[in-house]
Amino acid sequence: MVLGFLGALPLLLILVIPSIFERREFLALAQGQSANRPWMDKALSPDRRADLVLQEMTIDEKIALLHGNGMPGWPRSVPGANPYLGNGGAGFVLGVPRLGIPIVQMSDAAYGVRSSAENGRYSTALPSNVASAASWDTQAACDYGALIGRELRAQGYNMTLGGGVDITREPRNGRTFEYMGEDPILAGTLVGHRIKCEQAQHVMGDIKHYALNDQESGRNEVNVIISKRAMRETDLLAFQVGIEIANPAAVMCSYNAVNGDYACENKYLLTDVLKKDWNFKGFVVSDWGGTHSTEKASAAGLDHEEPLDDFLGNKLKEAVQAGRVSTAELDDHARRVLRSEFASGIVDDPIKKNVVDVEGGLETSRHIAEQSTVLLKNEHGILPLDRAKVRSIAVIGPNANTSMISGGGSAQVDPPGRGAPQWKEHVWFPTSPLKAIAAKAPGATVAFDSGADGASAAALAKKSDVAIVFVYQWTSEDFDLPSLSLSDNQDALIEQVASANPRTIVVLETGSAATMPWLNQVSGVLETWYAGSKGADAVANILLGDVNPSAKLPMTFPRSEADLPHPKLLTPPPGKRADESKPSFEVHYDEGLKVGYKWYDAENKPVLFPFGFGLSYTTFSYSELKVTPGSETTVSFTVKNTGNRGGAEIAEVYAALPASAGEPPKRLVGWDKVHLNAGESKEVRVSVRSLYLSVYDEGSNSWKLVPGSYTFMVGGSSQSLPLSEKVNLK
Ligand code: BGC
Repeated sequence: MVLGFLGALPLLLILVIPSIFERREFLALAQGQSANRPWMDKALSPDRRADLVLQEMTIDEKIALLHGNGMPGWPRSVPGANPYLGNGGAGFVLGVPRLGIPIVQMSDAAYGVRSSAENGRYSTALPSNVASAASWDTQAACDYGALIGRELRAQGYNMTLGGGVDITREPRNGRTFEYMGEDPILAGTLVGHRIKCEQAQHVMGDIKHYALNDQESGRNEVNVIISKRAMRETDLLAFQVGIEIANPAAVMCSYNAVNGDYACENKYLLTDVLKKDWNFKGFVVSDWGGTHSTEKASAAGLDHEEPLDDFLGNKLKEAVQAGRVSTAELDDHARRVLRSEFASGIVDDPIKKNVVDVEGGLETSRHIAEQSTVLLKNEHGILPLDRAKVRSIAVIGPNANTSMISGGGSAQVDPPGRGAPQWKEHVWFPTSPLKAIAAKAPGATVAFDSGADGASAAALAKKSDVAIVFVYQWTSEDFDLPSLSLSDNQDALIEQVASANPRTIVVLETGSAATMPWLNQVSGVLETWYAGSKGADAVANILLGDVNPSAKLPMTFPRSEADLPHPKLLTPPPGKRADESKPSFEVHYDEGLKVGYKWYDAENKPVLFPFGFGLSYTTFSYSELKVTPGSETTVSFTVKNTGNRGGAEIAEVYAALPASAGEPPKRLVGWDKVHLNAGESKEVRVSVRSLYLSVYDEGSNSWKLVPGSYTFMVGGSSQSLPLSEKVNLK
């Protein structure tokens, strides 16, 4: 026995000793103690650390940082793909173990971490991104990002692919739910706070899709034509603001072309604007399959290709070796990736997997949903429902007994209790409006009808004190809405129910704006967007008055598609593309600066619900406006809660520029969210950056404040601005 053990000793030593050394080596690395690795010194700047480690790298190691390695489920037969080394996310980048540079594990995470079902994990679904924009709340945006950051790390990721901020120029865009609405300052501010707090969890952040990926139809072949001034003041401004706030590790360039060049090889977008004007220090990652060339893309400023290495792998190496791409250019790409890794903390704080805080996540998700749900109509104060009086409630609508809809595509979060959804499957989250309402209204009979048979739903509504109809509009990446009408005869269902009982409340679960032919027939409308894992509780809390709604629309709801800048959505020409290397059709954004409310204002078109609109169960008044010019213009005013319950008011500040600026009638320049008890007043001060009052001058390629008379307007929506004051700015 003893002899047997001794006999095995040499073998044991051979096995154990190297692993002891490896472990020591690893610990030394993790603690940054390795004397020959000066880049592990946390006291140095991310730039210095990136420079130091870059000097040690071979060309192959540098190139390995510049491309992905395939996607989950890809067979090993795909040359260059190593998906088995990934963590189940959309992409990953090989590290350089000998130098202590970790693998970058990326996951989509628009409103929660993607692909949890496939990987046997669990993720919280937050309300959709456009919903979170409806909170106008930077703290909520921060909580949103922090939750996603924590869940990414818990699941073994150190990079997020969330952070969508293409502005809503085209509300039929199937990804509207992934973005932050139509105003660049609101969208940029909120996405910035989201990414900042996401990165604080030591994940690399990403802002996308840069730029002007404002429709999904033909996204790989559309050439967006737009003036420099218009893009800088609209779509690009949202990115500029978001990048300033968050310093994201990465910017994802989009599929489409802009003014003739694909976004991922567009020198104006990637180098002139992003890297030079905005001084962006991180790296540009292509959208998946959005790279079209090697030398052109590299020279234009693309740093990293996903999901594989078609252009920035061997072809880039050959181009460097042949002198067609300089070593300095190669180094710049690699340095940017490395810098982001140091700056975000993923090198110093390696991933430690853990169990997601399910309860905490649900709580955060519900809280954000409550702040994101917009009360659009409340006739005769039908809401909140009075528990003491309401005896019977009809809950009507597809799946309203079990669940609420979510947004699809690469943003999709998997609901618990089932397998991975198919691409473009309508995915319902197990959060039951019926149960949540019944729990909040114990004294009432709460009955359900799916609405499949309008007559039966109407009969239930007729015999109930109140009917609540849950309707939905499903949207997803890779697809645009044919119209803003609700699908599947849901308009007819609402009309039928409302004609049986005018005490009908419609709860919208939509990704974008919806048209409402039945609006005059119903008493209440609540927009919950895609409300996430705890949507039903949030809605019930608002319907029954435990929560006072405060959200406001981050996008206009038009009366009809005919009022949009492009009544007809342009789609690619039919048939196969003759030349896949070139865009096949153009979309001219000749509405230019007039995006969202700026369009309706300028064109004098009435809307269904204006940008910035949302009701509360209390009322607010505004007074005492004072505008003080300075390096930042200070706008101060008083908001009073004139109703009889506490609530929060999003107070909005707009500015009209001097006529000579040639701008739409007004723009949002700031806001504040004020919490007030019944009867309470507060003075609000909003500082307005001069950038937000400026115009982009194409002649000098710079922002200019046009001297002249500016009108500052303050109030509770873009169309309710009771205070105004003119000042001269120079
Ligand atoms: C989407 C990106 C996404 C990527 C990886 C693309 O189809 O446009 O937003 O991050 O896939 O899943």
